[in-house]
Parts: sequence; C-alpha cells; structure tokens
Amino acid sequence: MTESNHRKPRVLSGVQPSGALHIGNYLGALLQWKDLQDTYENFFCVVDLHALTVPENVKPAVLREKTLEVAALYLASGIDPKRSTVFVQSEVSAHAELAWVLTCASPLGWLNRMTQFKSKSESAHTVGAGLLTYPALMAADILLYEADQVPVGADQKQHIEFARDVAARFNELYGPTFKLPNPMIPPTGARIMGLDAPEQKMSKSTGEKAPGHAIGLLDAPNAVKKAIMRAVTDTGSELVWAEASPGLKNLVSIYAAISGETPDVVAARYEGRGYGYLKKDVAEAVEGTLAPLRARYAEIRGDVGYLDSVLDAGAERARAVADPVLARAKIAAGLGRTR
Ligand code: TYM
Repeated sequence: MTESNHRKPRVLSGVQPSGALHIGNYLGALLQWKDLQDTYENFFCVVDLHALTVPENVKPAVLREKTLEVAALYLASGIDPKRSTVFVQSEVSAHAELAWVLTCASPLGWLNRMTQFKSKSESAHTVGAGLLTYPALMAADILLYEADQVPVGADQKQHIEFARDVAARFNELYGPTFKLPNPMIPPTGARIMGLDAPEQKMSKSTGEKAPGHAIGLLDAPNAVKKAIMRAVTDTGSELVWAEASPGLKNLVSIYAAISGETPDVVAARYEGRGYGYLKKDVAEAVEGTLAPLRARYAEIRGDVGYLDSVLDAGAERARAVADPVLARAKIAAGLGRTR
C-alpha cells in the first residue's frame, strides 16, 4: 500500500455487457467517467464475468458481441484510451482469482443482504451461486487497482460498501493489504427511472423486453423521441414542481443531468407550462447527446483493428497493475509457497 502514496488517485468502474446500454448507464456512470480522466488514473473494464451470473440471459455469441459493443460505447462516450485503461475483465485473470479469495472472506449474511441479489433472484429461473457471490467479484475488480473512487449510479452503492467491508475484513484477517474504496455518485442522474414505469429503475434487462421502457444509447432517433413523448407522467397537464409525479421528476432529472443544471433550475423554466414542452426539450437534449455518440460508435465499430488494439493494450496495462496486488494478497493469505 505504500507505493500508492505517490501517484494520482485511481478510479475503477465497469458496465456489464448484459443488454443494450441506456441513458441511465450513460448519465449515472459514463458521463462522469469522461470528466475524471485528467484528475485520476482510470481503469474502465467491461465486466463480462459478471454477465455470466444469469447464464440463461446471455448466449455466448451475444456476450462476445456485447462485450465489443460496450467497449466501443466507452470510447464513443469520450473515454480516451491514451488517458484511461480500457479492458475486458475476463482477459485479466487476476479478477477471477482474487474473487475466489474474497468469496471465502465474505460472510454469507452480508451477501444475503444485497438488495440487488434479492430482486434479481426473484426474477431468475434458477438462481446460480454466482448471483449471490457477485459482490465478491466486484470487490476484486475494485481492490486489484487500489481504486480510491468508484464512479457509479446509486444502485451500486451497496456493492461498493460491501467491497470496503470485505477489504477491511481481509486486512483484519491477514494484515494490511487492500485500500478501502469510496463510491462516487453524481448529484443528478444517479437513478434514472423507466419511462414506462417511473417507479422502477431503468434497466437493461427490462429495456430488452418492453419497448418504451428505456432510451437505448444506440436507438434510432425516432425511437428515442417516441419513448420520451410517450413517457408516463400523470393525469395533469401543466407542471407544478412542488407536486411533480415520479415520471415528471425523471424527465427533469434526465434534462438536468445532460445540461449540468440542478433539477430545480430546469423545473423553474417549465413551471405552469404544459408537459409537452418539457418532453419536446428533453427529447432534443437527449438526441443532442446521442447523435454524436452514435456517429463515433459507428466509426469505432467500422475499424475492428483499432478496438482490438485498444483492448489488447488495456489488458496488458491492467495486468501490470493487478498482478502484483493479487500476488501480495495471496502471500498475505498463505497461498502457494512464496513468502
Ligand atoms: P450495470 O452494468 O448494471 O450498470 C452500469 C453502470 O450504470 C449505472 N446505472 C444507472 N445509473 C443511473 N440510472 C439507472 N437507471 C442506472 N442503471 C445502471 C450503474 O450504477 C453502473 O454504474 N455491478 C455493476 C458492474 C460492475 C462494477 C464493478 C461497477 C462490476 N464490477 C466494479 C463498478 C466497479 C453493474 O452491474 O452495473
């Protein structure tokens, strides 16, 4: 842990290639990652091992394709591979190896308490053990890079607290080894709700089944506009911010996260005006963000060699950081013959 005192603070985060990325993933995660690149040393991984936790949902060929899609979306969102390390989780074997060690240090009671496990296990046909031990893998992702900050949406806060707790438990069992990470959650856009059901978080899996639920980052302009114009609001017609329904608050949050204003400032402009004005402007703001993103994405996917070279170099840089941390943890726990 001593060498870490002299470098830039580190950031690690990731997205599961388990479905089509949506505006919630962008506003909760990718948008803030981009802005951290000058201040931090950044590691952004495509967490394909996590996507296996509900194996029925992701066919192998689809997983491979989604992994490339997510990596290309990182770059299209403004992640610069010269300043940030972009890599695929399963290509850095230290993640899976440390995950086992941390799984053994994870009390079952802590894992059982995870709200995401509770909700995902309710909807899964068969609940695989990986769905339960998922936070230990996520802790490995974070701890291998000695991340100071983990920029995520609000739904991941509990998992980062878990990573802190399991790091502290490991340190207690085996001596100081891991740095304790902190969640970094944006003030606006950290919890974007479904457009069709604003009491539910916008999610990749629901988005695949229900058109009108999510705004996909790669959706066609017409589909984006239609989803926003049809978003559920309430039976009223003019905005009264003090009494706004979850659907209206969600639309205002999307606008505010894109424009960099607070929801109150945005809402003040629409106070007393018909919902249609707000929806039209939200649709324009979203399209203003997605149009250039889609164009960059198409360019990146059009040059297969480029994406491969970014991910090859990223995996190599990631291994150079993760392997020594894994080695230290193994020695601390008494694994193998090295002292
Ligand atoms: P995932 O793939 O579900 O989501 C990726 C990122 O998007 C954020 N997010 C949202 N933000 C706002 N509104 C929403 N509706 C919304 N839905 C998702 C998530 O908070 C996340 O930041 N377990 C993680 C992936 C992961 C990870 C890690 C993250 C694995 N290892 C290490 C950080 C560090 C997940 O399933 O995210």
